[in-house]
Amino acid sequence: MKIVVTGGAGFIGSNFVHLLMRERPATNVVVMDKLTYAGCMENLREISSDPRFSFVQMDICSPEVADAIAGADVVVNFAAETHVDRSIEDAAAFVRTNVEGAWRLLESARARKIGRFVQIGTDEVYGSLGPTGKFREDTPLTPRSPYSSTKAAADLLALSYAHTHKLPVIVTRCSNNYGPYQFPEKFIPVMVLRAMRGERLPVYGDGLNVRDWLHVEDHCRAILAVMERGREGEVYNIGGDCERENLHVAQTILQSFERGYELIEFVKDRPGHDRRYAIDCEKIKAELGWQQRWNFETGLQATIAWYQENAAWVENLQQQNRDYFKRHYDDRPAVRQGLGAAPQP
Ligand code: NAD
Ligand code: DAU
Repeated sequence: MKIVVTGGAGFIGSNFVHLLMRERPATNVVVMDKLTYAGCMENLREISSDPRFSFVQMDICSPEVADAIAGADVVVNFAAETHVDRSIEDAAAFVRTNVEGAWRLLESARARKIGRFVQIGTDEVYGSLGPTGKFREDTPLTPRSPYSSTKAAADLLALSYAHTHKLPVIVTRCSNNYGPYQFPEKFIPVMVLRAMRGERLPVYGDGLNVRDWLHVEDHCRAILAVMERGREGEVYNIGGDCERENLHVAQTILQSFERGYELIEFVKDRPGHDRRYAIDCEKIKAELGWQQRWNFETGLQATIAWYQENAAWVENLQQQNRDYFKRHYDDRPAVRQGLGAAPQP
């Protein structure tokens, strides 16, 4: 069995590769990654000398992709631009990688008659929820950020290749992940790293936006189940059944460091900020027997411990992206300080 994992040097991709190497001993894994700002070879260091593992530095938009995936049984496409805030500043790379790159991979998979293609998607394609309800696989797609719009385009392209070209494609759509190797621009690592150092925690808007948190290992196990046993042409939602307001998560992290809530700083809201995500993932549970294993509170403490133990990894990435971190987190003006005037969770 040979599996090509695109974007395998990123957060979820590298966790998936680690899972494959641990639990599928007869599998050869090829990671294809452009190594953008978000890709990091250090994420794969532990397995880099394993003879079942190989790495190719390649842009998924490049025409050479077809040769690079030839002979693979499966392609799992994690490669993407993934940060909503960056897509608001400049969507060019999102359109290129998330749409053109997905198309290039699909065409290449078709040309090379790849046996299975798993497109890793996001719940953000469903838009934003009010206080009730959940996203189901048949919820209409109403993406509201440049990021989620490009991800919706990729999903639709993938499903069109399943329908029109009979390419064996499956699409997954997952809620917010957390865990080891998450790039330190995302909410949980930002909060953990800043709480650890006693710096102010920048919470967007009123802090009452809700995300449905899933430990990355649970996500990877779901992808494995879909890859091995999912039905072609189908979409599978994956979620944490774990809705939390951002403010609550920030407070929990501060408690872990025995720091006061006055470190919370309300900053200007993200434009077009989606209010609430919640995933109905009954389909994958019923069909494939998948179930979350991690509890959020335990998973969060394990993640905090991971960031404490991997200070050099963090430091390295923060140095390489110094300007972005300074502009977004250090220099971002506060709208309100502390929790005094804020709604209580
Ligand atoms: P990430 O930003 O940590 O990693 C992305 C990886 O893709 C990096 O290694 C990067 O170098 C690589 N990449 C980017 N452009 C590329 C290109 N043109 N060619 C080859 N490689 C390229 O992302 P992540 O958080 O691990 O997300 C992985 C996938 O899962 C994405 O498709 C994302 O949309 C999806 N997803 C993420 C979450 C989440 O909470 N992080 C939730 C649901 C779905
Ligand atoms: O739902 C799945 C999606 O989850 C993935 O498709 C995306 O790739 C991934 O980045 C994530 O998107 P979000 O926009 O939900 O994640 P982010 O970590 O950027 O933000 C989570 C919430 O926290 C969101 O409501 C914005 C808020 N936030 C974020 C940051 C970085 C803050 O309040 N302060 C911050 O500093």
